[in-house]
Amino acid sequence: MAPRKIIIDTDPGQDDAVAILLALASPEDITVLGITAVAGNVPLPLTQRNTRIVCELAGRPDMMVFAGCDAPMQRALVTAEHVHGKTGLDGPQMADPTMPLQDQHGVDFIIETLRREPSGTVTLCPIGPLTNIATAFEKAPDIIPRIHEIVLMGGAYFTVGNITPTAEFNIYVDPEAAKIVFGARVPLTVMPLDVTHQALTTRPRIDAFRAMGTKVGDMVAAWTDFFERFDMEKYGSEGAPLHDPCTIAYLIEPQLFKGRHVNIEIETQSELTMGMTVTDWWRVTDRPKNATFMNEIDAAGFYALLAGRLARL
Ligand code: BDR
Ligand code: CA
Repeated sequence: MAPRKIIIDTDPGQDDAVAILLALASPEDITVLGITAVAGNVPLPLTQRNTRIVCELAGRPDMMVFAGCDAPMQRALVTAEHVHGKTGLDGPQMADPTMPLQDQHGVDFIIETLRREPSGTVTLCPIGPLTNIATAFEKAPDIIPRIHEIVLMGGAYFTVGNITPTAEFNIYVDPEAAKIVFGARVPLTVMPLDVTHQALTTRPRIDAFRAMGTKVGDMVAAWTDFFERFDMEKYGSEGAPLHDPCTIAYLIEPQLFKGRHVNIEIETQSELTMGMTVTDWWRVTDRPKNATFMNEIDAAGFYALLAGRLARL
């Protein structure tokens, strides 16, 4: 099968960084057309910088990186330095990137790419707040039917929330954007906390990255060492969820995941449950199914895939 053409939309974030590395390490499965940065874990000047750092680390200074939206559609930005550190990629020492940031706005790159490529051939992989994607949909609705699939990290149902008691961070930061994306009638695959909380960075898994004896292996180990401290204390778990790479792993080995095609609606009114992904898991309504909500992962298979692919870089 020909590699799948994707655009990664991201807010690095250590787990975003691992997702980008996994995609760039997998050219037989994935062609990354470009990467758009969005404000999320940290503000946009840092997420676009971090994206370029990761591309250089992967040996891909030729990758096109674009800055997108610097704030949610209707709200003030909420960030997550308490998890990812001041830079978003805290942990190891990292030099400033030297590869360029593209002049074009990330939203315009998404629009132009979907108009240029044959219809039905481009997959979007959003792993941050959905601001860039929803803004592109509002600006150019003609691109919506041209999308092959959206595979995103966001939301939760049985695992409920990580930034509020009922909301997952990516959806909470820009619920209006999420509502637009979930309502767009595009084939949608969702990697929620229900999946990512099964993909824990246990000690042997981090040690396997370090044992690669490569710069990438050392960086990934140092990043996971950093951000897992917060999550281990919060959840009392033996490691931290490695959220965003689940999207890329799904594109490479979909059989690692199981889920259900259901209806998911986004709460945008209630202050108490703002950004909740209201998932009709038991199919108790007749609302139209709009997404495949994953709830199982073969975590050992996922980490084996990661270790095998990252060792190539
Ligand atoms: C999501 O929020 C961010 O902190 C992570 O990068 C991930 O995309 C998990 O809730
Ligand atoms: Ca992210």
